[in-house]
Amino acid sequence: MDAAEEATVRYFESRPADARVGSRDLAAELEIEHATFVDSVLKRLTARDVLAAEAVSHQTVSLTGEGEQYRKDGSPEFQYFRAVQRAAEPPSVQVLGEQLSDAIAKVGMQNAMKKKWIVLDKASKTLSCAAQVVEDEVANVLATLALDDAATQLPEEQLKELKQRKLVVVKMAKTFDITRGPRFDDARKVQAAELTSEMLQSGAWEHAAFKAYNFAAEGRAPEYGCLHPLLKVREQFRMIFVQLGFEEMPTDNYVESSFWNFDALFQPQQHPARDAHDTFFLSSPATARVEEEAYLERVREVHQSGGYGSLGYQYKWSKEEACKNILRTHTTAVSSRMLYDLARQTERDGHFTPRKYFSIDRVFRNETLDATHLAEFHQIEGLVAAPNLSLADLKGVIGEFFKRMGMTKLRFKPAHNPYTEPSMEIFSYHDGLQKWVEVGNSGIFRPEMLRPMGLPADVRVIAWGLSLERPTMIMYGIKNIRDLFGHKVDIAAIRVNPVCRMGIDT
Ligand code: PHE
Repeated sequence: MDAAEEATVRYFESRPADARVGSRDLAAELEIEHATFVDSVLKRLTARDVLAAEAVSHQTVSLTGEGEQYRKDGSPEFQYFRAVQRAAEPPSVQVLGEQLSDAIAKVGMQNAMKKKWIVLDKASKTLSCAAQVVEDEVANVLATLALDDAATQLPEEQLKELKQRKLVVVKMAKTFDITRGPRFDDARKVQAAELTSEMLQSGAWEHAAFKAYNFAAEGRAPEYGCLHPLLKVREQFRMIFVQLGFEEMPTDNYVESSFWNFDALFQPQQHPARDAHDTFFLSSPATARVEEEAYLERVREVHQSGGYGSLGYQYKWSKEEACKNILRTHTTAVSSRMLYDLARQTERDGHFTPRKYFSIDRVFRNETLDATHLAEFHQIEGLVAAPNLSLADLKGVIGEFFKRMGMTKLRFKPAHNPYTEPSMEIFSYHDGLQKWVEVGNSGIFRPEMLRPMGLPADVRVIAWGLSLERPTMIMYGIKNIRDLFGHKVDIAAIRVNPVCRMGIDT
């Protein structure tokens, strides 16, 4: 509360609870101009329900220039009467007309005669007084009006006449009848700036006084924007891919059907990764439509009984399971959609065109969170689709890719993925840590994945993937992943972190 609000509240505190005060009186009491009082103090206090105000309209009457003149000098009829009275001999109309101004002479004579203050002798055309003492009512009324706009007390007739004679103007004015408002008692309470969970639990919110929002306040201007380390490192990976001629895949769908994330990749429906312990399932919408009916049937076939030289998994494949919506667990879901599209393209073109694709985006896993695991992280994925690619091509491309990150000492270890054969984990020797660290996973996509899509039999797809967080943590010397991502990140550190460049000389 500012000083004026404080004084207003004090005024009501010192009076009975049902006191009713006019805004004009109150403003005068507080020595604040009425308009200022209404526009600021009263408006703010009524907005918070500390006070209640009822608008009252009244007439205000003010004197015109002419009215002001007659208030001082007397009305025209009075001035005319006095002129007749003062003359040594009964004056003629003409003589008085020359003595007095036109306005006074004309209106004054007419009214003075009407009021029977003077009489005109028809024969001699001279004027004489009919009364000894007269009362200049018009001037008197004008004088009281000038003191106070007590127009309400004035008989309607009289006001009408003054208006007609253009001696006064009447305007409407608004004042307020003010009383205590429903939250008067809150005015002095400490005002809460926010609603807290404690207030909700204890029920204190019901009686708490809340600070009004200041919608006019401007937010603090951000000093500058800054990039998160993950964004900086992502950009460098992008540059590596772009320099190697890879196209970026559209990764904007975090929600994916199990079909594209698992089934299309020849990952069996009983696979433990497809359990709710490892994967986030959506409850709404719980299922997706998979519209590629013919392809879906080929996927069913390859899972159930194989084909293309494979025995399949020999189980009963369920479309219902495939339609379940999940948060994608890897960006390979995007790769499977892209390879399916590439097969459609090949059909349309009548021939296959080799492609190199990459993606860097977020994936989700139902992990137990610890210093190196989060439930969401970023994957970097690259793939090359071309006829007759071999494991040597995969090692060559990976070697070239990691060389650009500054990792030249690589080792490959046989591994297993449901969708690649062979599969290899990638290790790099870390000079700082003085040991071999796992840096990625790779493989050649299985025919059981590619052939049902409709890709030609000789087309091989080599692919590899790694996390974005791991190299970022190594480059920035971050030991705990929670210092990199999530609500515990130190914003100040984000502001000042450098651009770390990867390359041979780091
Ligand atoms: N999708 C694999 C993962 O999530 C990475 C990978 C990509 C493996 C491409 C082989 C080929 O770990």
